[in-house]
Amino acid sequence: MSYSCWIIYNGFLKSDKFIDFANMFHHAANTVGDKATIYRNDEILTLIENNLIVNGKQVQRPDYVIFTDKDIYLAKQLEYLHIPVFNSSETIEISDDKIKTYQALKFANIPIPETIVAPKTYGLPIQLDHSYIEYVMDTFGFPLIIKETFGSFGEQVYLIEDEATLYKKKKEIGGKPFMFQKFINTSYGVDVRLQVVGNEVVASMKRVAENDFRANITNGGKMMAYTPNEEEKRVAVQASNAIGAHFSGVDLLFGKNGKPIVCEVNSNAHIRNLYDCTGIDASHAIIEHIHRVLENTNA
Ligand SMILES: Nc1ncnc2c1ncn2[C@@H]1O[C@H](COP(=O)(O)OP(=O)(O)O)[C@@H](O)[C@H]1O
Ligand SMILES: [Mg+2]
Repeated sequence: MSYSCWIIYNGFLKSDKFIDFANMFHHAANTVGDKATIYRNDEILTLIENNLIVNGKQVQRPDYVIFTDKDIYLAKQLEYLHIPVFNSSETIEISDDKIKTYQALKFANIPIPETIVAPKTYGLPIQLDHSYIEYVMDTFGFPLIIKETFGSFGEQVYLIEDEATLYKKKKEIGGKPFMFQKFINTSYGVDVRLQVVGNEVVASMKRVAENDFRANITNGGKMMAYTPNEEEKRVAVQASNAIGAHFSGVDLLFGKNGKPIVCEVNSNAHIRNLYDCTGIDASHAIIEHIHRVLENTNA
């Protein structure tokens, strides 16, 4: 069966990689005969009383939407109009929020670094109690990780070497939400990205940074194709399922004896780097998976 499909990306992020991501899906959807159209999030206006307005004109609902953006309100509006959105607004919301991801994974018994969630301060740049910091330091020792709740490309993840730096970093973060995390030192500068689609891992790569504890490619990490073992695949699929993702890029750290520990689950993981180093274009598997989901829903 063929469907009409919208691919939505963010109109305010100017980097070409976001358009490239949308184009990869466009190509894959057209390959299976779907009628795909790419829209920026700011071209679409939704009214919950059942109207979709695109560039000022009322339009028909698409059969499904691929949401490559994090405009969670728009994704939710589309869901209220009974349009299947991949990934769902809820999945994107959990993935975007590192504290929500930690909670979902921990609750599902999936290995994730020990974490202490910092208290909400309503945006106020309040310094934490000394007893609180003592507890964090006793639990994790140094170095430890401070991670802002919202961040990408490793830019809001900090390796903290001592107490003075901890207080300084807290001051810099101000009132933004964040968490403390155990530093998995066996994984310094190395992680693996497993692309999960449904219950399968379709492609994987290893990322190695030479001069940084963070393995992000944008941060200078080098990538190479990787063959995950059964345990790594199982943990990645469980993590993807735990946040309700139809597809996701799961990052694994190497714990003691190489045991996989989930670092994060990206609902909007870009698939270009994976394609460049493995030759596997995951967008095809994703579109096929969406077709299977739609066929099961309509059956
Ligand atoms: N607890 C940790 N222990 C060791 N390394 C970590 C830890 N958390 C993050 N990292 C490193 O930092 C990188 C970025 O962290 P991540 O949580 O994935 O943030 P981002 O969303 O910005 O990519 C990871 O790819 C990994 O290399
Ligand atoms: Mg990451």
